[in-house]
Order: sequence, then C-alpha cells, then structure tokens
Amino acid sequence: MEWPRRHGNAFGAILLARREPLRAGGSYNMLTDVVILAAGKGTRMRSAIPKVLQPVGGRPLIGHVLKAVSGLAGVRQVHAVLGFGAEQVKTSLGGYPAIQWWNQPEQKGTGDALRAALPGLEGADRILVLYGDVPLLRCETLRAFLDAVPAAHALGICTASIANPQGYGRILRNAAGEITGIREERDCTAEEASILEVNLGITLFPSQYLPGWLNKLKPHNAQGEYYLTDVVAMAAAQGFTVMPHGIADPDEALGVNDARQLASLERIFQRRAVEGYLDQGLRIADPARIDIRGELAFGPDCWLDPNVIIEGRVQLGAGVRIGAGAILRDSEIGDGAEILPYSHIDGARIGGGARVGPFARIRPGSEIGAAGHVGNFVEMKNVCLGAGSKANHLSYLGDARVGAGVNIGAGVITCNYDGAAKHQTVIGDGAFIGSDTQLVAPVQVGQNATVGAGSTITRDVPEGGLTLSRVPQKTVPGWKRPGKPDTGS
Ligand code: UD1
Ligand code: CA
Repeated sequence: MEWPRRHGNAFGAILLARREPLRAGGSYNMLTDVVILAAGKGTRMRSAIPKVLQPVGGRPLIGHVLKAVSGLAGVRQVHAVLGFGAEQVKTSLGGYPAIQWWNQPEQKGTGDALRAALPGLEGADRILVLYGDVPLLRCETLRAFLDAVPAAHALGICTASIANPQGYGRILRNAAGEITGIREERDCTAEEASILEVNLGITLFPSQYLPGWLNKLKPHNAQGEYYLTDVVAMAAAQGFTVMPHGIADPDEALGVNDARQLASLERIFQRRAVEGYLDQGLRIADPARIDIRGELAFGPDCWLDPNVIIEGRVQLGAGVRIGAGAILRDSEIGDGAEILPYSHIDGARIGGGARVGPFARIRPGSEIGAAGHVGNFVEMKNVCLGAGSKANHLSYLGDARVGAGVNIGAGVITCNYDGAAKHQTVIGDGAFIGSDTQLVAPVQVGQNATVGAGSTITRDVPEGGLTLSRVPQKTVPGWKRPGKPDTGS
C-alpha cells in the first residue's frame, strides 16, 4: 500500500531528506502517531496469558507503555497491533477507550505487525513505534527522544551500549560512524555479535516513506520474519539520516521475553517505586522487602515493616504503622491506625487510631470505626464495626452492622448464610456478645444487651438484659470413663 505523496515525487523527497542538517529545539508541531506492537504470543514466557498482559507492579506490561504514552503532547492517535489473545488484551485495557486497535492475524515479525496499522497512520507526520513488552520506559524519555529528532525526514532509533547485549539487535555503523543498519542477534556474525551498542526498540519514522519501506521487507533471516529493524538499512542506503538517541538509563528499555526477565524487571520497577516513596518521606524498614502493585498515597510519619504488599489503591493517613507481612489492597487506613503483622486488608476502611491484627482478615465492604480493635484470627466481611468496638479473638463476622462500644467475645460467629441467601446481623451500641456465641441471621441485638457465652441466638435480643440459650449444666457423680480393650501386649 502506498499513500499519495504530499511533497512532490519520491525521489525529490528523498533528496530533500538526504543528510538534512539536524536542527535542534522542538519538534515543529509535527503530528505524531504512536504504534504499540503487541501481537506476539511471547512463546518464551511459556504462559497461556498473552505476553503484554503479564504484570509488572500489578499493571500489565502494555499498560505501562500506555501510561508513558498518555503523558506525551502532540500525539494524534495511539494504535496497538494485537494478535495472540487480542480479545483478552482489549478487555483488560477497557480503561483506554481512545486506542485504535489493529489485528495482525499471523505473527510474521515486527515489520509485518506495523504494516497492519498502516491504514490508520495516514495524515500523521511521523510514527513513534514502541513494543508492548518494554514496561519501564518513562514518559520524559520518550519526550526527549521526540524532541531530539526534529526533522520529519529523519529516522530516530533509541540505542544504548550495554554490557550484556544478548537478545538485542546490534547497531551497525560504517567507517564514518553513521548507522547503516540493525542486525538481529540470530543473524549476527561472531564479530557483529560482539557489538555492545543495541537497538532498544523505540523508533521514530517519517510516516510518508513508511509504507514503501514496509512493503519492501523480505523475511530473509534466521527466523523467516519481516523485521521492522531492516527498514533502517533500507533508509540508510537511500541516504536518510538515521539518528541514534542514547538513553541515560538503559534499564528503561529492557524488554520482557521470558519469566526470568519478567522477575528481574519487577525488581527494578519495585526499586524505582520505593525510591520515589522514600523521597516523599515514607519510612520503609527495608526498601528491598516491599512490593507495591498499585498506587500508594500516605500522610507524614507512616512506617512499613518488611514484606508488606500494597495492591490497587491504598491510602494511609498520618502516622500509620503497617506490620511485617501485611497485605493491603484497595483500602483506606485512618490517621494513627496500626495494622499488625500478617493481616490481610481488602476493600476496607480502617478508622483513625484503630488496631487490626495480627493475623486479621478484613474483606471487602468492611469499615472499622475509630479506635476499633480487631484481633488475631478474626475475619470480617461487609461489616461495619462502630467506634471503639472490639472483636479481639477468633471470630467470623459477615454482613453485620455493629454499633459503638460493642464487645464481641472470642469465637463469636454470625451465621449469615443459610445455603441460599445472605442475611444481616445488627448489634446495638454497648452490647456485649459472650464468647462462642452464634448469631443466626437475620437477627438483631438491642443496645447494651448482654448475650451469655455459648448461646445460639435465633431470635432478636431485647435491649438491656441478659439473654442466653444454654443447655443446663449437669454432673453424673462417680461416672467412669470406658476402659481401653486389653490387647494382651
Ligand atoms: C526486538 C527487535 C530488536 C530489539 C529488541 C528490543 C525486531 C526484529 N527486533 O527484538 O532489534 O533489540 O526488540 O527489545 O524488531 N510483535 C508483534 N508481531 C510480531 C512479532 C512481534 O506484534 O509478529 C511484537 C511483540 O508482541 C513484542 C514486540 O513486537 O511486543 C517485540 O517483539 P519480540 O519478538 O519481543 O522482539 P525481540 O526479539 O525482543
Ligand atoms: Ca522483546
């Protein structure tokens, strides 16, 4: 496919572009389209999940690329080329409605993938091509790259010299130091393989010439694929300027091809995230032993002990302390609250000055009031626990509204599920629920009521008095335990 030429005939345009002196400063209001190549299965991952949906820091790889791109100015349209697991990828990225999707039915190489998006690229001045498996790229880095390649007729490629270039395409240069092409590792001679300067896979093309180049690609290489990287040699041979752009921190351009790389990028991502939080004053006992898979907001003087995991959106007030091994997901923790070790807090709000754990499990829809106490081996689901109320040991509370100043004894259980539907338990302010009580919902306990230990409560409990359901205690005097049979041994 060829587009109508906007700048005279092809030859004239090429002459115009030939070794055009590069002018610094700004990108002259050029319209840039971004294409993210994400069709590959990621065979080397050995996973049923499309590679670009593998997570780093709790976000899919391609989500990181989209995040970096979303901060760029002058982008006309973002495109993504999908193939393997396309529907799954689109569904996971439902939050990015503005993306134009393209399909590459067969994964025949990065050049073929970009060709799939060509019909959408007409009208853009230049095309920034990114790979969906390069998640650490910063927006500022992309911005600097776009600014550094000001001429619409120049090709820009991000490069870095790295100690271990394994797996990357090597940058080929002529005697004058000009870039003449990129050689994929599998096609390298021994001499080429020793080149340390690599293609990081972030490329800027003048869009006018792209269709012509892509249509000339040949799969004459070890993998039998249409390599996008071969465009560089074509363009250089035609006299186009190929501009290398160095990236200060080559970690940014690390790609994920296998589980090892995914794990090592996760560590880099976490280190970066933690350094950012430390700079903002968060106190972290050991920056190497914390995982943040989402977004963390916090007030002053918060403290996190080792092996805390943060998922989704978590907000900590001032002076919050999170104990070792606690997992917090999509939750809000009020000022001065303390989450003791190994607690799991999910979709909950914990009031100021509350104390939760150790070993507590707070499930979605729960709200612990100010100065509430939830102790070890207590599970709560969809429970509102009033201010100053306590459930300190070994309880299951589900679908309950508990007033203020209530004491829930050890082993209390709300029987909220009858096998078909969930029912609510309501407990009034100041009530005292004795240990090992079962509250068979739907049921209500009045204010300041006392429920005797070991009761099975099936009817509403009035305010004030003592309610209990208990088999009377009896003693059989002189009773003998049965003896064990004599086996003769
Ligand atoms: C590619 C580059 C290599 C560079 C490296 C940087 C090519 C030929 N090689 O190699 O020079 O050093 O990235 O990380 O471009 N994809 C498709 N359709 C396909 C094939 C791939 O959409 O048919 C997508 C993949 O989903 C992936 C991206 O393109 O997101 C890169 O493909 P991958 O196979 O990982 O290329 P590399 O071998 O890493
Ligand atoms: Ca790759």
